[in-house]
Amino acid sequence: MAKQANSVDLEIVSSSLLSVLQDLHSKYKSLQEGAVANYIPELAKVNPDLFSICIVTVDGQVYEVGDYQQLFTIQSMSKVFAYGLALEDHGRDYVLTRVGVEPTGEAFNSIILDERSKRPYNPMVNAGAIATTSLIKGDGATERLNRILEMFRRYTGHDVFVDMSIFTSERSTGHRNRAMAHLMLNFGMIDQNIEEALDLYFKQCAVIVNCHDLAVMAATLANKGINPITGERAVDHQYIKDILSVMYTCGMYNFAGEWAYTVGIPAKSGVCGGIFAVVPNQMGIGVFSPPLDARGNSVRGVEVCQALSQQLCLHLF
Ligand code: DON
Repeated sequence: MAKQANSVDLEIVSSSLLSVLQDLHSKYKSLQEGAVANYIPELAKVNPDLFSICIVTVDGQVYEVGDYQQLFTIQSMSKVFAYGLALEDHGRDYVLTRVGVEPTGEAFNSIILDERSKRPYNPMVNAGAIATTSLIKGDGATERLNRILEMFRRYTGHDVFVDMSIFTSERSTGHRNRAMAHLMLNFGMIDQNIEEALDLYFKQCAVIVNCHDLAVMAATLANKGINPITGERAVDHQYIKDILSVMYTCGMYNFAGEWAYTVGIPAKSGVCGGIFAVVPNQMGIGVFSPPLDARGNSVRGVEVCQALSQQLCLHLF
C-alpha cells in the first residue's frame, strides 16, 4: 500500500476529484506537441485532438472527463495483461527462463536480446512481449486468442473484440517485429510457428478498448487482481507484484527512469496514445491522447500523470 499520508491526501481531494480531472483536461487540451504513430498505417488516421482522463478507485467509484468512450486499440498496454496470463500458465520460474525483468533503456522496438542469456530483456518491450505471448497456452491459434480475449473480458468487465483493419495493417508492415521473432527462434526463446506467434501478438495489440476500460483494468491491478466494478478476479493475486514491478521499471521504455522519478507509480503506455497507471490499493488511472513524444509515450498522457501524481500525492515514496 502507498504510504498512509497518500490515503489521507486522497480522502481530502476525493470530493473534488472530478474537478481536478476537468481542470487538467482543459489545461492540457490546447497542448499541441507530438505526432500520432504512423508506422502502422491504420493508426495514422486517428484524430489527434481526442483526449480523455479516467480514474476508477478500488471501491468502484468512477471519475471521467473528455472522450472517455472513444474506442482505440490497446497496443503495447496489452503486454502487461498477457504477461500475467503467461505467469498463470507457466509460473514465475519458467517464464523467467524465456523473458527477463531488466529495463533496456532503449526504444520499445529495439532489436536486442540479453547477450548472456539470449532472453529478451523484459515483457514490456516488443521482443519480450512477442516471447511472452508465444507462451500463452491453448489448443491451436483460435483457442489461444480466445483465452486472451476472455482474460480482457475479466479485466474490462465486458466482451472485447479485435480491430481487424489495425491487425492486418500491422501484420502486413510489422517486419521489424518479424525480425525479432526470427532472432528469438534462432536462440530457442520461441519454439512455435513464428507467424502464428506474431499473429497472436498483433491481435492482442489490436484489441479494442476505451479510456474508461483502461482505468478499470488499472484499478483491477490496484485491487489485487479483482475488478472493482464486477467483483470478478481477473488474475491470480500472487502475480500482481511481478506485473507491477515490471511495469514500474520497464513500462515507459526509455522514459521509465524519469517516470519513476517524477510520477512514481507503475504504468504502461501504448502507441495508440494511451497510458494506464496503477496506484496500489487505491486507484487505476487511464489517459488517452494520440500524439506521442519521441519515445512513443502520449505527450498529454505524461503531463496529466505527472500533474495528478503531484496534486494527489501519488508517488510511492
Ligand atoms: O508491436 C508494435 O509495434 C505495436 N503493436 C505495439 C507497440 C506499442 O504500443 C509500443 N508502445 N509505445
